Amino acid sequence: MINRRYFTKLACAGALLMAAALPGSAQETITIKFSHVVAPDTPKGKGALKFKELAEQYTDGRVVVEVYPNSQLYKDKEELEALQLGAVQMLAPSLAKFGPLGAQQFELFDLPMLFRNRDDLRKITEGELGATMLSALEEKGIKGLAYWDNGFKIMTANSPVIVPDDFLGLKMRIQSSKILEAQMNALGAVPQVMAFSEVYQALQTGVVDGTENTPSNTFTQNVHEVQSHATVSNHGYIGYAVIVNKEFWDGLPEDVRGQLEQAMTEASEFANSIAEEENKAAMEGIRNAGTTEVHDQTEEERAEWFEVLRPVHEEMADRIGPDLVQQAYEVLGIE
Ligand code: LMR
Repeated sequence: MINRRYFTKLACAGALLMAAALPGSAQETITIKFSHVVAPDTPKGKGALKFKELAEQYTDGRVVVEVYPNSQLYKDKEELEALQLGAVQMLAPSLAKFGPLGAQQFELFDLPMLFRNRDDLRKITEGELGATMLSALEEKGIKGLAYWDNGFKIMTANSPVIVPDDFLGLKMRIQSSKILEAQMNALGAVPQVMAFSEVYQALQTGVVDGTENTPSNTFTQNVHEVQSHATVSNHGYIGYAVIVNKEFWDGLPEDVRGQLEQAMTEASEFANSIAEEENKAAMEGIRNAGTTEVHDQTEEERAEWFEVLRPVHEEMADRIGPDLVQQAYEVLGIE
């Protein structure tokens, strides 16, 4: 829970920032604070910097974008509160982290073994379903601008994690998603929600035994240094929704908003075009580091994981919305 002093600090900072950021005189500089939790050298980190470059260029310097990576300003849960209070204007939280906002429709993306590849994913993010999910944020005071890709996840631990039984009793760090909790429970592991910024130390000190993440996040956080084993399982996906404080966005001069929309469209194309390559390079980095024994999942092993993980869809459909899950199946051609 957010404590009262922290809340007051945030609220004051928010009020000041809103006053500075809301458009007054035509030529006032508008500052956008873009906070995120990952390294600059990741698909999201690079996407944020691309948006900064284009936004400042297209608005001729009228908008200044300050990017704060690596949880420098706020950790996972705090950043959503900061956005709602107006202390920051832009975020790109992982789709697994919207549950606490009451927007658990995005947990659809956490269902294990749902997407076979990026084409499947695009059918949702670039289709009607993706747009509907973003627009549902508006009643929370948030405007969803775009989906940004990261990639498919690997499992890591300090013991081999090749077949489902290998997970029995392992303490596995997860993002704050009930679907991921159910996924780890299905594997017999003990899920532990933890902020991204705390994962490396928790693994190093044995607070948790393992985790799941994309190669890019694993490599840039040096998680491979403190995990002896990894399985390239592609069992689930991590991606982002780029979001802004709606009051701030709606209050922008129309021309500026149009320029920022253009910058966001191009930054999104850029981020989504580099994500796969970034993850491939990171996977190579993990393999070459030599600290982690990497296992590439076989077809037979995947079938075994599928059998254990697929029931999570039905178990969690009520939380996500049974209609939404059904519509996603239809779009993806799943029986
Ligand atoms: C995580 O917490 O593992 C990820 O959501 C971090 C991120 O933003 O990619």
